[in-house]
Amino acid sequence: MLISLHKQVALVTGGSSGIGAASAIALAQAGAAVVVNYRSGREAAQRLVEEIRSAGGEAIAVGADVSSEKEVEALFAETVSAFGRLDILLANSGMQRDAPTVDMSLEDWNQVLQVNLTGQFLCVRAALRQFRQQEIREAVSRAAGKIIQMSSVHQLIPWAGRANYAASKGGLDLLMRSVAQEVGEQRIRVNAIAPGAIRTAINREATEGEAAKSLLELIPYGRIGDAEDIANAVVWLASDAADYVHGTTLFIDGGMSLYPEFRDNG
Ligand code: BGC
Repeated sequence: MLISLHKQVALVTGGSSGIGAASAIALAQAGAAVVVNYRSGREAAQRLVEEIRSAGGEAIAVGADVSSEKEVEALFAETVSAFGRLDILLANSGMQRDAPTVDMSLEDWNQVLQVNLTGQFLCVRAALRQFRQQEIREAVSRAAGKIIQMSSVHQLIPWAGRANYAASKGGLDLLMRSVAQEVGEQRIRVNAIAPGAIRTAINREATEGEAAKSLLELIPYGRIGDAEDIANAVVWLASDAADYVHGTTLFIDGGMSLYPEFRDNG
């Protein structure tokens, strides 16, 4: 099956850099009109939109902080006023504020939970409300709407010094599966992707130089991932090729979640 997202509208939160930016490009290449949401990366988002347009695609950039209910509502309203509907939500915004738990400030805890978990809840809720108002267009897509939540291997792997981040991703797992259970009968597909170590701004220090060597010991497949590794899966999950995939988390991590430290044990 050839993948086409023609006549579909995709919204990518946190779309101005990293996995979000690569996914926005891939979705546009597959034919979707793309809304690139950013919080602080206005110029980067605008550049990305230009890149998509000059390759013949459709895109706009819209600023919004996903942890603000009002801004999320405005973001979805702008999406629908620009492109008439929404077919695909990639809830991708995320952040880290690392600290040992004993020293972690309440602010660092709250900020990470508000963006990574509450922010996805707000976007998922807004997408569901929009999907409810739309008709299924069988010729375009078998589903009434598709939601992809960006999680992490740390929804499974505990992460010392990042309890806020790991807790937010663990929460996302049950958010995703509960919503999937709730809305499947409306032909809305809900899934998540759990990336491993992907070379982006969030982990620049860990993926460069000497640090990269010890990181590689945690990756059986032997390479650090690229944002495109995730973007390819986003396009597939959003498409009818994945029409029976619902309530699942796809780990895309080069095997990081396989407990590689047990390789040479015993
Ligand atoms: C984190 C990265 C980290 C990776 C693997 C991701 O969720 O954002 O900083 O490198 O997990 O540990």
